[in-house]
Amino acid sequence: MVLSWDSPIRHELEMVEAEMQRGVFSEQAILTEISLYVIGSGGKRIRPAVTLLSFRANGGDDSEISRIIKVASAFEMIHAATLIHDDINDAGELRRGREAAYKRYGVQKALIAGDFLFVRSFSLGGAFDERIIQIVAEAMTAIAESEILQAIHELDPDTRLKEYIKIVIGKTAKPIEAGARVGAYLAKAPLQAIEDMGAYGLNLGIAFQIIDDILDVTGNASTLGKPRGVDFMDGKPNLVLLEAMADPTIGPEVRRLFLKKEKTRADLDAALSFIATSDAVAKAKDIAKEYTAKAELALANLPESDHKRSMKQLAESLVERNT
Ligand code: IPE
Ligand code: IPE
Ligand code: MG
Ligand code: MG
Repeated sequence: MVLSWDSPIRHELEMVEAEMQRGVFSEQAILTEISLYVIGSGGKRIRPAVTLLSFRANGGDDSEISRIIKVASAFEMIHAATLIHDDINDAGELRRGREAAYKRYGVQKALIAGDFLFVRSFSLGGAFDERIIQIVAEAMTAIAESEILQAIHELDPDTRLKEYIKIVIGKTAKPIEAGARVGAYLAKAPLQAIEDMGAYGLNLGIAFQIIDDILDVTGNASTLGKPRGVDFMDGKPNLVLLEAMADPTIGPEVRRLFLKKEKTRADLDAALSFIATSDAVAKAKDIAKEYTAKAELALANLPESDHKRSMKQLAESLVERNT
């Protein structure tokens, strides 16, 4: 069997699963049910994995295992909460191969379940230490702020790369950065190493979201577990769409379609065919690779270990992923 990047932390990841099962218990059974519906539907577990890898790669040992498992679980539960809310916001109907939670349980209950997950993550992740509370709270604030910034740029075909990256940092990269930082912090790594891990998580997270944008255009709903074309239909200027709309040949047509308030399936198909004739996807991928290169560079001062190798492998496999 080929070793995959998560092999050195398999055991810890199993502990995270058990912790999350415990963490979502509620006397209101429906809250537990919705939480488990989302958590149990798969997902790549990137956020806890980065947290755990950063912890182990910085020499974190078993004396802190219970804390790191709780914090890693908290980051995945925050993620699950944002996915529930995100699907309501984006009208995404499929998530991790299942009907989105709000489709199944209704918007009202799904919203509350998302809030419930946020709060439970916070109590798990912030249970020990003021510094950790601060890092987790900053990541959660960044998600909310960037969702607003993203809404401001809806139907804005002239969103600048800088603004786009700012949105991506807030909604996706900051939470991954936070996990990487907390991992190193709990491993009692020196300040510089904590900063380096933060830089790894941040740049990895940016690349990760750019690839997500690419998959929104090129992906296959059955392998992806979520529908294609959601960003276009919602008027969300993702990086591929921005590159396509800046293209001198296909730009004007894609822009016209993107700007339609009521888009049809046919509009989406037309936009995707235009994009397929351009190098918009390749350009976005090149930008993603710049960020994975930065992520790898941030590992330069970390001592060699299986966990460090996994962090590199994760960064490399990420740009080739199709799920
Ligand atoms: C999806 O995240 C939302 C983004 C921030 C791109 P993931 O692609 O990590 O989703 P799962 O957890 O694997 O389902
Ligand atoms: C989501 O970004 C970021 C979150 C904080 C959930 P997307 O809206 O692109 O994520 P997907 O594509 O629905 O998973
Ligand atoms: Mg979405
Ligand atoms: Mg997406």
